[in-house]
Amino acid sequence: MKRLFTILAFVGTAVFSYAQPKLASDNIDEVLKAMTLQEKATLLVGGAKAAMVEGVTSGMIAQVPGAAGNTRPIERLGIPGTVLADGPAGVRISPTRQGTDKTFYATGFPVGTLLASSWDIDLVEKVTTAMGNEVLEYGVDVLLAPGMNIHRNPLCGRNFEYFSEDPLLSGKMAAAYVRGIQSNGVGTSIKHYAANNQETNRNENDSRISPRALREIYLKNFEIAVKEGKPWTVMSSYNKLNGEYTQQKEELLTTTLRDEWGFDGIVMTDWGSKENTVKSAKSGNDLMEPGNQREIDRIVNAVKEGTLSEAEIDRNVRNMLKYVVKTPHFKGYKNSDAPDLKAHAMVAREAAGESLVLLRNEKETLPLKGNEKVALYGVTSIDFIAGGTGSGNVNKAYVVNMEDALESAGFTLDKTLKNYYKNYKSYDDALKALTPGAGRSFFNVPRIAESSIPAAAISKEAEVNDLAIVVLGRNAGEAADRKQMDDFELTSVERELLQNVSTTFRAKGKKVIVILNIGGVIETASWKGLADAIILPWSPGQEGANAIADVMTGKVNPSGKLPMTFPVNFIDHPSSANFPYNYQGQQVRMPFGRRAPQKDVDYTDYSEGIWVGYRHFVTRGVDVSYPFGYGLSYTSFNYSTPVVKASSDGFDASVTITNTGSVAGKEVVEVYVQAPDGGLEKPVRELRAFAKTRLLAPGESQTLTMHIDDYSLASFNDATNSWEAPAGVYDVMFGGNVCDIRRSAPYKMKKAKTWSVKASYPIVDNGI
Ligand code: BGC
Repeated sequence: MKRLFTILAFVGTAVFSYAQPKLASDNIDEVLKAMTLQEKATLLVGGAKAAMVEGVTSGMIAQVPGAAGNTRPIERLGIPGTVLADGPAGVRISPTRQGTDKTFYATGFPVGTLLASSWDIDLVEKVTTAMGNEVLEYGVDVLLAPGMNIHRNPLCGRNFEYFSEDPLLSGKMAAAYVRGIQSNGVGTSIKHYAANNQETNRNENDSRISPRALREIYLKNFEIAVKEGKPWTVMSSYNKLNGEYTQQKEELLTTTLRDEWGFDGIVMTDWGSKENTVKSAKSGNDLMEPGNQREIDRIVNAVKEGTLSEAEIDRNVRNMLKYVVKTPHFKGYKNSDAPDLKAHAMVAREAAGESLVLLRNEKETLPLKGNEKVALYGVTSIDFIAGGTGSGNVNKAYVVNMEDALESAGFTLDKTLKNYYKNYKSYDDALKALTPGAGRSFFNVPRIAESSIPAAAISKEAEVNDLAIVVLGRNAGEAADRKQMDDFELTSVERELLQNVSTTFRAKGKKVIVILNIGGVIETASWKGLADAIILPWSPGQEGANAIADVMTGKVNPSGKLPMTFPVNFIDHPSSANFPYNYQGQQVRMPFGRRAPQKDVDYTDYSEGIWVGYRHFVTRGVDVSYPFGYGLSYTSFNYSTPVVKASSDGFDASVTITNTGSVAGKEVVEVYVQAPDGGLEKPVRELRAFAKTRLLAPGESQTLTMHIDDYSLASFNDATNSWEAPAGVYDVMFGGNVCDIRRSAPYKMKKAKTWSVKASYPIVDNGI
C-alpha cells in the first residue's frame, strides 16, 4: 500500500512538474515551453507594482523602497521578481521606510569621473566590490550602473556620472566597475547605450554620427566593457542614433552587441515608454522599464497578429530567464539590510584620496604642516557637493564638509568667517523655504548662492590667518545640460572673491589654495594664476572632504590624473559648435513635426567626428589649460628606456618607473601610440594602454608591463566597413600626460591587418 502511494505521488509530481515546471538553472527551455503568451509578455515588461496581470498569478513581488524598477514575478513557474536600483555612485534606495525607525542609508562613493581620475583598475574594483555588497545586502539584484557615455563636450549635465573623453580609459574603468559589483553575485547595467552625450531633449534628440566616430569613440568603450567586464545587463538609451531610437536599433542591440561582441545578458530600456514596443522587442531590447500594461498588451497583440513572431519573443524571454536564475532573489538570498557602512565609508575616503587631481602646486605650497590658521571661503565649504543630482544621487547618512574635515585634520579655522557662512547658510535656506517647491525637485536641486565678502573683511582675515582656501562648487545632474555662462565660466561673485582673496593674502606673503568641488569641467585658464595650489576632487562622495584634507596634510600623496582635457575656452572643443550650451528649456518632449526641428535640440551633428578631446587638441596644436592625463605629485618619477616586444597578436610595452623624489608616491604611466602614415588620417597620439605603480618609496622602482594588441591599434574605415591597421612602424610613447611624453620606442607591424564587422551605421537623412 505504502509502495502504491509512493508510486502515485511520484507520477503525480512528474505530471505536475511536466505541466508546471518551476524555474531552475537547468530547465530554462522547459519553463519557456510552459509559459503562456501573456506570461512571456509579462516577463518582458518591468513593473512589479502592477503585477496583477490578467491571467498571471502575482505574488513574490520583489520591492525595495526607492529602487528605480523591478521585473515581474510569475509565481506559477517559480519565477521571482527582481529589483533594479541606481547607480552609479552607490545604491540609490529610500533611506527610511514606513513602520520602522531603522534607516537604510547607502554609502555615497566618489562619482564616476573621480574614479576614472584614479587611472587605477584595482582601486575601482575595490570600491565597487564594497558598493556591490550594499546592493546585495539591501536586496537589490542589479545596479543601474556604471554610466559610461563619452565626455563629448564639457557641458553635458551628466558627465560627472561618466568616466572620460577617451574610450579606452572609459571602457577599462567600466569593466573594472562591473567586475567589482558582480563579484558579489549581483548584476550591473552599463548605460546609456549609446551616444547619449547631452541631456537637452534627451528623449528625442537624434545623435548623427559617422560610422567611424561611432565605432572608435562612442561604441569602443562599451565594446571593452562588454568583452572585459561581462555585465549582466545593458541599458539602451533614450535618444536616437542616426535616425532611429537606440532602443529600437537592431544593429546596435543585436548585431553589434551580441553577434560582434558576444554579449549574452539582457538589454533593458532607459526609464520611459516609447511607442513602438514591438520594434524594441524585435531589435533585441529584452526588457521595457519601468514598464506598463500597455507595453504588455502591445507585445501580446503583435504576436497574435503575426507582426512579432513567437521565436522573437522566445529569444528575449530566454534571455530574461537566464538573467533571473543568476539573481539573489532567485537564489533565495536573505539580505541583511545592514551592510558595513563604516567600513565602506573608509573605502570611499581612500578612493577619493587616491583619485583626486592636483592641478597646481607653485613653490610646493602643498603639503601643509596641518596646524595652520585657515581663512576658509566659499559656500561650498559648508554645503559640500558629494555627488550629482537626479538618479545618480545617493541617499547617504551624512556628507563631511570642508570645514569639519579641515578641523579634524588639525587646522584652525577663522571664527568670524565660520560664523558668517553658518548664518548665511541658514539665511539662504530660509529664503528657499519661502519659495514654494524649492529644494524638492529631483532634478534641479537649488544650491546656496555664492556670497561676496567685503574687501575690508578679507583684509582682516589675511592679517590673522596663515593662508586662504577658496572652495568653488558646481552641481549638475540629470535632465539638463550645463551652461557656458556662470557655470563653465566663473560667476562674477566668484571671480571677485577669488581676485580679492588672492591679492590681499599674497600681498602679505600668504598662499591661496583653490578646491574645485565640481561635477564637470570649468574654465580655469583665466584665473589659475590667482591660486598657488589647485586641488580637483570633483564630487568625491560623503567622505571626500576628509580625503582632501589627507592630501593637504601630505598623509596622502596625490596620484590622480585628468580623464579629460581642460580647454582654455569652451568653444575650443570642436563639439561646442554642435552642442546646446545656451539652451534655455529643460527637457523637451515633443515629437518631430510639431514644430520646426531645432539644431542641437532635435538633432545633433557630431561633425567633429573622431576629433573629441585630446585627439583634437594635440593633433591640431590647440593650447589647453590642463591636458588630458595631467596631474601633479609631491614627488617626481624617472622613466627608464622602454622595451617594446612583439608578441603573437601585438606587443608588450614595459617601462621601469623610479621614484626620484623624497616622499613615497604612485605614478600613472600613459601609453600613447601614433600609427604610421598610409591608412586613414589619425590623431598624433591615442591612448592605447595605461598602468599605475604601487606606492613607491623614495628611490624605489617598479617595472610596468602592458599588453597592446594589433586590433586596438586599428582605425575604422567607413568605406570598407572594417577596422584597419596599416603596416609600418608605430611610435609607442610613454608619458605622464598627453603633452608630456618621456620615452618612446618603435613597434613594427609587418603586414597590414583588417577586421570586418557585421553591422553598418549609415547616417540616415530623415528630412530633419
Ligand atoms: C536615467 C537612468 C536611470 C533611470 C532609473 C533614467 O532617467 O536616465 O540613468 O538608471 O532613470 O532611475
